[in-house]
Amino acid sequence: MSQSRNKQSTNDDDTRIALVTGANKGIGLETARLLGEEGALVLLGARDPELGATAERDLRDEGWDVRLVSLDITDPESVKAAAARVETEFGRLDVLVNNAGAALGLGATPSTSDPDQLRTLLDVNTVSVVRVINAFLPLLRRSPAGRVVNVSSEIGSIGSMTDPEGPFFGMSGSPAYPVSKAAVNMLTALYAKELAGTSVKVNAANPGFCATDLNGHSGSRSARQGAQVSLYLANLPDDGPSGVLWGHLASADDPESYGVLPW
Ligand SMILES: NC(=O)c1ccc[n+]([C@@H]2O[C@H](COP(=O)([O-])OP(=O)(O)OC[C@H]3O[C@@H](n4cnc5c(N)ncnc54)[C@H](OP(=O)(O)O)[C@@H]3O)[C@@H](O)[C@H]2O)c1
Repeated sequence: MSQSRNKQSTNDDDTRIALVTGANKGIGLETARLLGEEGALVLLGARDPELGATAERDLRDEGWDVRLVSLDITDPESVKAAAARVETEFGRLDVLVNNAGAALGLGATPSTSDPDQLRTLLDVNTVSVVRVINAFLPLLRRSPAGRVVNVSSEIGSIGSMTDPEGPFFGMSGSPAYPVSKAAVNMLTALYAKELAGTSVKVNAANPGFCATDLNGHSGSRSARQGAQVSLYLANLPDDGPSGVLWGHLASADDPESYGVLPW
C-alpha cells in the first residue's frame, strides 16, 4: 500500500501540513501518528481539550511534530476558529482527513430504528463533513497537492450492502450509520467533480472493520491498519484518482486486499 510522498511545494518549506479530525483516539490517532512518522506537521483535531492534549503529548513524545487544534466538527464557530488559526499560522493546508465520526443503533433494523439517531448521525458524520471541507477549502486550494480524505465505510456502499454474494448482504442494521456514510460517499463524488482540474483531490476511505471504541473493540483489524487506508489516500500522487471509495476489501480472500469499492 506504499505510495511515494508528493514533495512539491510552493515555498521552501516542503513539510506537508495535515489536519486529522477526531484524532484523539482510534483510527484518527493512528492516522495522525502515521502522518507524523512520515514527516508531516500534524494538526491533531480534538473536541475534548484534555483528551486532545494527552494524544498530542503522546505523539510528541514519540518525536512527531504534532499541534493540538480544538475542533468540534458539529460547531460552526469551532470549525471557523480552527480554519482561521491554520490560516494565520500556516497559510495553507495540504491534507484534510475528515475522520471524526460516530455510530448509533447498529443492531436495530430499519423498521425498528429511531429516526432521531439518523438525524444525529447525519449531523455528525455528514453535515459536518461539508462544514469542515468548506471552511478549509480555501487553504487546501493554496496547496500544490491538496488531499481530502473522507473516512467513510463499506457499509455506506449501496453496491456492497445489496450484493447477494458479498459479506454485508446479511446485515440489516439501523439505517442511521449506513445512510450517513452513503451520503458521505455522494459528497465525495460531488466535491471531486467540482474540484476536477484543480490540485485538490477528494476521496472516501474504507478503513475496514477496526477494533475501536466505535464498535466496542469488536473489529478484526487494528486501528493502525485502518489508518493506513487514509494515509494512502492522503499521499496520492498528482495522477492518482479523485472521487473514489477506496480501501479494505472485505470480500477478498486475502484479508490484506485493498482497492476501489462500489458506491
Ligand atoms: N472502527 C471501524 O470499524 C470503522 C469502520 C469504518 C469506518 N469507520 C470510521 O472511522 C472514523 C473513526 O472512527 P473510530 O473507529 O476510530 O472511532 P472512535 O475511536 O470512536 O473515534 C471517533 C473520533 O471521532 C471524534 N468525534 C466524534 N464526534 C465528534 C465531534 N462532534 N467533533 C470532533 N470529533 C468528534 C471522537 O472524539 P471523542 O473522543 O471526543 O468522542 C473520536 O476522536 C469514523 O468516521 C468512523 O465512522 C470506522
